[in-house]
Amino acid sequence: MNIFLIGFMGSGKTSVGWRLSQRLGYYFLDMDQQIEKEERCKISQLFKEKGESFFRQLETQLLSRLVSLQNTVVSTGGGIVTTEGNLEIMKRIGKVVYLKLSPEAVYQRLKYDTSRPLLQTENVEEQIRALLEKRESLYAQANSIVGVQDRSVNQITSQIIHSLGSASSVEKL
Ligand code: S3P
Repeated sequence: MNIFLIGFMGSGKTSVGWRLSQRLGYYFLDMDQQIEKEERCKISQLFKEKGESFFRQLETQLLSRLVSLQNTVVSTGGGIVTTEGNLEIMKRIGKVVYLKLSPEAVYQRLKYDTSRPLLQTENVEEQIRALLEKRESLYAQANSIVGVQDRSVNQITSQIIHSLGSASSVEKL
């Protein structure tokens, strides 16, 4: 089995993914890190030099290469769901888990962040709200929804393991 972690920037996909892979004895793949490695370039730089649509193409190309993956936890970039077809690919390869966080909590976590190109704007709080509103219905198509607010990485990891026990589990924030 493979597990894809989706969710907004700052929801903890990378740290939870790593911990989850350790707990399950699975491999771990972080898509953003993989893209940076393959392109030998930071994502912020890629956005600046080649634009968001180029990055989205790289994301989908990488995803398409993961079809033969086994026993792997994959942490995705927050915008992966915005490209049509990506959710379907992830669901074909594994179980998709949405790490859900409120816009207020995202703002508190990322207000001073400089590594996310989409948040380098004047009104960061408004941008988070607008992006999350656009994406929420896409994230909600996950096999399982896990609230991550006020929870430790270990607690969230246990919740994911528990939620995957039941086929389609929706655990509200
Ligand atoms: C993005 C999220 C980022 C990264 C890129 C775009 C997004 O990943 O892929 O900056 O569109 O939400 P994280 O969710 O790991 O921050």
